[in-house]
Amino acid sequence: MKAIGTALCAAGIVAALLAFFWKDPFDPERLSGARVLLTGASAGIGEQMAYHYSRFGAEIVLTARREAVLQKVAKKCQTLGAKKIFYIPADMSSPSEPERVVRFAVQNLGGLDYLVLNHIGGTRFQMWDGDVEYTRRLMQVNFFSYVALATAALHTLEKSNGSLVVVSSLTGRIPTPFTTSYSATKFALDGFFGSLRHELTMQKRKVSVTLCILGLIDTDTALENTRGKVYLTASPAPEAALAIVRGGAVRVQELFYPWWLQHVCRLWVLFPSNRDQVLQSYYNYSGP
Ligand SMILES: NC(=O)c1ccc[n+]([C@@H]2O[C@H](COP(=O)([O-])OP(=O)(O)OC[C@H]3O[C@@H](n4cnc5c(N)ncnc54)[C@H](OP(=O)(O)O)[C@@H]3O)[C@@H](O)[C@H]2O)c1
Ligand SMILES: *[C@@H]1O[C@H](CO)[C@@H](O)[C@H](O)[C@H]1NC(C)=O
Ligand SMILES: *[C@@H]1O[C@H](CO)[C@@H](O)[C@H](O)[C@H]1NC(C)=O
Repeated sequence: MKAIGTALCAAGIVAALLAFFWKDPFDPERLSGARVLLTGASAGIGEQMAYHYSRFGAEIVLTARREAVLQKVAKKCQTLGAKKIFYIPADMSSPSEPERVVRFAVQNLGGLDYLVLNHIGGTRFQMWDGDVEYTRRLMQVNFFSYVALATAALHTLEKSNGSLVVVSSLTGRIPTPFTTSYSATKFALDGFFGSLRHELTMQKRKVSVTLCILGLIDTDTALENTRGKVYLTASPAPEAALAIVRGGAVRVQELFYPWWLQHVCRLWVLFPSNRDQVLQSYYNYSGP
């Protein structure tokens, strides 16, 4: 008993010292004047990221499909403090768009420090219905366009020791119901960008790769998709966006938001026997 008490006491002292000396590695100054290309910037988490980068004084190129909405977001970015703001409407289901968008960003910003890949195509939250064509389309928007954007920007990012930030999901680590195709696109991101990170390190190329693993976030599309189908509470999009912006800036390999998702992923690996039953209990399904 005495030994346990001593150990607990020592752990407490160490924790207190760590808390006292721990410095936030995030330096907002580093984002002032940073050149950012941000996709899926017209709504949801992407829109919120645009506002955060603006408050930090970044130079930003926004992209998504809807020009009128991009224009509105850009205007707000300006009032929030963006040093430069441009937007380019583009549909990432078209294979030629990624290169055009990167070219536009590099031309207007004179280089790139951050490529933030965040857009997704329209997602169905339902049982697999056999529509292979839908899966193919979603792969194009959620995965192939990410590969093409990163490829087009890599050389430019290398010149500035820049960062690739890839927005994924818990569903890209742990398969969940109602997300067959979406889950597949996110798992693909983990594979591709995880492997690319190895290669960049092995080649001593100074481009960081941050994979962001998000839980349910309260964006309009996510709430609409999951209404009545899950027993989960959504976290706020502005907070998720800030976590991603900070994670990219401090060059972490993996960013979890909410933070405790990293423990969910660990427990998932540790307890394979009854994990599926627990997970399924969060989903509302009363069919056969
Ligand atoms: N919300 C969540 O619960 C949640 C959870 C885990 C992970 N995430 C991830 O977080 C990221 C953002 O999600 P969100 O909820 O903020 O999404 P969202 O609100 O639906 O926004 C999606 C963005 O992508 C754009 N977009 C859609 N189709 C496109 C296309 N074909 N080409 C180019 N742009 C397109 C949309 O703008 P336009 O319509 O103007 O093109 C919009 O700006 C995604 O990577 C998502 O997987 C979200
Ligand atoms: C990138 O990093 C290398 C090595 O750390 C350094 O020599 C170089 O000056 C950096 N370049 C920029 C643009 O920061
Ligand atoms: C669960 O789904 C059923 C049928 O789709 C629906 O009627 C019910 O309201 C849902 N329950 C909750 C708590 O959302």
